[in-house]
Parts: sequence; structure tokens; C-alpha cells
Amino acid sequence: MSIWNHLLCRPIMSFVHQKCRNVDVPYLGSQVRRIPVPDELVKWSREWTEYKPPVHTDSKVQGQVWADPEISDKTFQPAWNSVDGKINRVSFVCPYTFDSNTLCPLNPIGRTGLAGRGLLGRWGPNHAADPIVSRISDEGHLEFVAIQRRDNSEWAIPGGMVDAGEQVSQTLQREFAEEAMHGVVDKKSLEELWSCGKELYRGYVDDPRNTDNAWMETVVVNFHDAKGLLKNVTLQAGDDATSLRWIRVDSKEPLYASHSHFIQLLKASHS
Ligand code: BGC
Repeated sequence: MSIWNHLLCRPIMSFVHQKCRNVDVPYLGSQVRRIPVPDELVKWSREWTEYKPPVHTDSKVQGQVWADPEISDKTFQPAWNSVDGKINRVSFVCPYTFDSNTLCPLNPIGRTGLAGRGLLGRWGPNHAADPIVSRISDEGHLEFVAIQRRDNSEWAIPGGMVDAGEQVSQTLQREFAEEAMHGVVDKKSLEELWSCGKELYRGYVDDPRNTDNAWMETVVVNFHDAKGLLKNVTLQAGDDATSLRWIRVDSKEPLYASHSHFIQLLKASHS
């Protein structure tokens, strides 16, 4: 890693991912298991010559319009670390480097025990956006809208992937409509809410789908309903969600990927 990379990456260098090293269960939707990566060998800078993780790219990803071709495909010449046409291949963490043998991008946080793309469409960063819609309940508690994910039943913020060519601001509203309003894009009643977004986080996500060569990053924005605008809106799980409810910020309920961390940021921003 160059000195510039090192300086740019410094703020996150001490962070070590956990959820994308879990060896207790097979990789989502497969029989493939990660190899164990001890904490002290997560960083690529720590030499580990015998490291040979299994390579897995789910068949659901192959040939999809939202996914990249194989790295070995000669027609695939992406502009890495750049906005590549309609696809943002820039990492919020730092300019990523590449495996010298496979030429695949390397996860900026380090080893995950699995190579390939798993269930992720893009080599390198896969960008998402997470709207945290919050309110103060009648009992005076700060709470947020959560959905139960269909893929693994975990409770989560109703976020989703940024589509090619889409602005993050559009993704935030579209995903909330798809996941929490059963696809009803209610622009009128929520216009005021969407206009007061406050960014809480942008960066890497410790997502269980991450691999050595493909990982999730997100922008988290809080839309706080101080005026009760949501009282006129029907919230209902839709699309990739099976249930929806308001969760109290101090309930300490386990949440998907890094979402508990985002909720801590929400709490801090309201205290
Ligand atoms: C989810 C987001 C999440 C991101 C990273 C996306 O699939 O919809 O809520 O933050 O993955 O875990």
C-alpha cells in the first residue's frame, strides 16, 4: 500500500470487521464456508503466505444486468476507484488496491476468509443508502422505522442498493417507499420530511455478504419527523421485507450488519 493510501485510510485502519468473518454458518444461500481469519491477520499488511480462501460467486449474480462480469472477461475494463459511467466504483474508505494474482479489488478493511463476490454484484465497493426515519413516541422515546429482512429475518433499517446512475438522495426515498410503504411513493405528504435529512455516516459496512473482493458501503441519513407528518402515511412492509415496526433507540435490539452502530449515531445526534 502506498504512503498516500496509508494516510487516507488511517482513520479506519484500526477497525476490524466481524460479521463478514463468521464461520459458524455457511455463506448466505450456499454451502460455502469461510475459512477462519484471526483478528491479528485481518489486515492485508500482515503477511499470511498460506492464505487460500474458497472462491465463491453465487449463480444468482452471474449474468445479471446489475452485476459485473467476471474479472477474467477481457471486455470488462472498469474504471476502478472512479465513477465509471453510471457506476460509482469509488470507496468512501480509501483508494483500494488489487490482488497481484487475480487482479481483483481488495477489501480495504482486510481478509474475510472468502474470495469472489458471493452475493454482491460489483467487484469492489457496492453502494447502498439507509434512511433512518425517526420520531419521538407519545411516551417520549426516540424510535425509528425498522423492517424485517426477507433474506435472513434480521431487523434492519429499510435501506437498499444505489441503482446505476441513481443519486443517493433518490435511493433513500425509493427504498423507504419500497420497503416501508409497500411501494407507494407518497411525495406530497413526506416532502417536508425528505427535505430535512441529516447525514450520520458514510463508509464501510460490516455486512455478512462481504468478501475479500466485494464489500458494502453506505450513506446513512436521518429524517426526523418532528411534525408528525407520518401520522398521515400508512407504513407497511413491502418488497424485500416481511414486517415493519417502530423500534426504540435504547432497546438494544440486535440489528442487521452495522445498523446498531448507525442507531448509536442517531442517538448521539439527538442527545
Ligand atoms: C441494505 C442496507 C445495508 C447495506 C449494507 C443493503 O442490502 O439494504 O440496509 O446497510 O446492504 O449492509
